[in-house]
Amino acid sequence: MPSGPLAKLKKRITARTARIGVIGLGYVGLPLAVEFAKEGFSVTGIDLDRRRVAGVNRARSYILDVESSDLRALRRRRRLRATSSFGVLGSQDAIIICVPTPLRKTREPDMSFILSATEEIAKRVRRGQLIILESTTYPGTTDEVVRPALEARGLKVGKDFCLAFSPERIDPGNATYTTRTIPKVIGGITPLCTRLATALYGSIIHKTVPVSSTKTAEMVKLLENTFRAVNIGLVNEIALICHRLGINVWEVIEAARTKPFGFMPFYPGPGLGGHCLPSDSMYLAWKVRVHGYEARLIELASQINSAMPEYVVERITSALNERRAALKGATILLIGLAYKKDVSDTRDSPAFDVARLLEERGARVAYHDPYVPSAILDEKRRTSTPLSAAVLRRCQCVVILTNHSTVNYDLVLRHAPLIVDTRNQFRARPNRVVSL
Ligand SMILES: NC(=O)c1ccc[n+]([C@@H]2O[C@H](COP(=O)([O-])OP(=O)(O)OC[C@H]3O[C@@H](n4cnc5c(N)ncnc54)[C@H](O)[C@@H]3O)[C@@H](O)[C@H]2O)c1
Repeated sequence: MPSGPLAKLKKRITARTARIGVIGLGYVGLPLAVEFAKEGFSVTGIDLDRRRVAGVNRARSYILDVESSDLRALRRRRRLRATSSFGVLGSQDAIIICVPTPLRKTREPDMSFILSATEEIAKRVRRGQLIILESTTYPGTTDEVVRPALEARGLKVGKDFCLAFSPERIDPGNATYTTRTIPKVIGGITPLCTRLATALYGSIIHKTVPVSSTKTAEMVKLLENTFRAVNIGLVNEIALICHRLGINVWEVIEAARTKPFGFMPFYPGPGLGGHCLPSDSMYLAWKVRVHGYEARLIELASQINSAMPEYVVERITSALNERRAALKGATILLIGLAYKKDVSDTRDSPAFDVARLLEERGARVAYHDPYVPSAILDEKRRTSTPLSAAVLRRCQCVVILTNHSTVNYDLVLRHAPLIVDTRNQFRARPNRVVSL
């Protein structure tokens, strides 16, 4: 049983009177802050990005899965506010860190966001607080990096304050599985840390899954995302093999998925994208390399996935060649810049690599994405080209990179002279459609 300030914290969690600070109001932090606020907690979001802070305070959502009407209701009831000042951290009962964990250019973990958020907490940490890291990171981060920084001023974890890791597993744009309905894995530094963090998440999340340590919880997330990255690498390789053998890979997958056990479908595409999949398994590979082990399968999958944009460009080039046309000087319209269907997130999207490679080979590139009004492609700002019969007829090739639901594919099929389809959008393929 907790005693002293930590016992008080437990009571405040149960009574929904605990104040919760969420550092980082992005795809992960904002939906989480909203769920706690809806449940009656008083939530303060802290973000360095002043536009995001203003967005929350003016109830204008900038995240697809969060409704502005929800922000308005929570602002009216004074349940949610945002600030760029870390001064508020001292008065929070629980602090949840949801900052980015990208890769450096060297493909090593960029821990600078976690480190700077931790330092801000460390300056103000007090007895009776619960600190939770949610950012995806390598096993050992919470215990080896966050904990020493927080204990540096003499407070002891598990006795004075609590510390846990709980990976975020949301899937932006997925209306079926949301922050509330995705089970939450939680690992604390001590059993008390796990219990308090489980009590906190248990108030907003349907199912909590306590595990024995922060390292285990960190590894759970990396297993999940490495599983996806490696399987996508495998199916991308199967796509290359099928092309060489003259077999339709999509038909193979559809038939294989009828097996009721032992098979799970993954689909080929133009490469991995988003803030998570391309980097998460690299966090694991980096960590284990420090321990003298080369994660061969993970590295190989990453190499296959990273080479997919090059393969897509090769397929575009040969499809044009079949029609006695050259890539050099051709106008290519890319459909879908976001890294996945029905979201606006373009971080690490393979579409940018495809665009760059095409332009390096002398093509003129335009794009259409209903979710991305403008973007920087190959160092130049472009705007999304509205789809019309005339636009489609003017280009030599249309490439489906992300198959957003709202695109008018009938129009594309009627007017595009040639389509390279990396997502199997056009299942019944006339001659003008080249499938991955
Ligand atoms: N996006 C996803 O689908 C997803 C899913 C599961 C897990 N994750 C993980 O969650 C973490 C956050 O990802 P995200 O997609 O929400 O990122 P994001 O870029 O959308 O949001 C992060 C926010 O943190 C802010 N920030 C950065 N450093 C800060 C600091 N020191 N203090 C205060 N604010 C700071 C940024 O301004 C930004 O608004 C990452 O580790 C990611 O891997 C993301």
